[in-house]
Amino acid sequence: MKCVALTFDDGPGRYTATLVNLLKERGLRATFYVQGSNVAGYPGTMRLMAESGMEIGNHSWNHKDFTKLGDDAERWQVGATDEALAKAGVKAEGGVRPPYGAYDASTLALGRPLVLWDVDPLDWKEPGTAALVSRVTSQVKPGSIVVMHDVHKPTVDAMPALLDALAADGFTVVTVSDVVRPCGGLTSRQVHFRC
Ligand code: NI
Repeated sequence: MKCVALTFDDGPGRYTATLVNLLKERGLRATFYVQGSNVAGYPGTMRLMAESGMEIGNHSWNHKDFTKLGDDAERWQVGATDEALAKAGVKAEGGVRPPYGAYDASTLALGRPLVLWDVDPLDWKEPGTAALVSRVTSQVKPGSIVVMHDVHKPTVDAMPALLDALAADGFTVVTVSDVVRPCGGLTSRQVHFRC
């Protein structure tokens, strides 16, 4: 089976629930890397995400570049987000995605799985549905991890077309934990780009 993990960063935001429902209707699961500072403002969306079987991961408190932070600040960014997720009553098993994919020795010293990506369609530049679909379908391989952003409405609007195109190419959309399972799972190594 050809699997691909779709990941959505920077939320939760005002379009996140629409995206979760769209995935849920198709029986699909994806991974959401949320910013801790956004979590308390979207309790219903966080519950919906968890109840729909979406995977949740830690994308820092407020999107600071970890390579520019001291060890304590970095630990705080991740720890405060863990606390916000616990307070929201959701499990966060998707590991940590450092903002901008930027990490250093002190990030590694946190001892958490870091989840990067191998396919970046630059959806935040809002290229339009056709360009987004072709960028993903032309780069994706079995085991790929795709980074996108649920805080951009055009990205959410493009999802039906992207999900159709991936299905037509024989890909099954899964979470990060699922996509890396054949390669030993999230804790098998610390930095993941694809399985
Ligand atoms: Ni981000």
